[in-house]
Amino acid sequence: MFGLKLRETNILKIIEESLAKLSRQGNVDIKLKKFLENDVVWIDYEQMVTALFDLEKNAIEAMPDGGSLIITVEGDEHQVSITLADTGVGIAEENIPLLFTPFFTTKPAGDGTGLGLPSAYAAVKAYRGNVTIESNADPKKGPTGTTVRIALPRRQIFQAEESKMIVHEED
Ligand SMILES: Nc1ncnc2c1ncn2[C@@H]1O[C@H](COP(=O)(O)OP(=O)(O)O)[C@@H](O)[C@H]1O
Ligand SMILES: [Mg+2]
Repeated sequence: MFGLKLRETNILKIIEESLAKLSRQGNVDIKLKKFLENDVVWIDYEQMVTALFDLEKNAIEAMPDGGSLIITVEGDEHQVSITLADTGVGIAEENIPLLFTPFFTTKPAGDGTGLGLPSAYAAVKAYRGNVTIESNADPKKGPTGTTVRIALPRRQIFQAEESKMIVHEED
């Protein structure tokens, strides 16, 4: 957990802030669907704003002629999940295994750095969470688009252990 500023954050606020940072959304219709009563998660606020911003930017860049991005937030007492589903061009099957490799990009030099997905993945992994990506780039197989799902534990394991230790000391 080196360098992470873990604190009590509100995931809905983080998502809203990441969306506010988007300077260009073209003809993309963005919807946020909230299915969470308690949106508190222990993470690094700035880092997660950046990670979500990068994913939203990818979605917008995949829809040059417009489309829709639906962000769904849900969860239970143990974890929250954020799903970003776009109706963009999709990701070719052979590229899926390369997505978390730093500097992998299909964008013209100067446009893409190939660091958006690897950084988001590293951030989520640091919180013992997970990122899964499903995509279809072949219109013959159905509507094209990409769905990125982030799962985040509410609290970190070491925090839970810390509080257990305190309980033991008081015993
Ligand atoms: N939502 C998406 N729709 C289509 N392709 C995507 C999407 N997200 C990522 N990609 C593909 O993954 C590649 C890597 O993404 P990323 O790591 O963010 O780097 P960059 O955006 O700088 O290329 C992109 O170049 C693109 O080919
Ligand atoms: Mg990107």
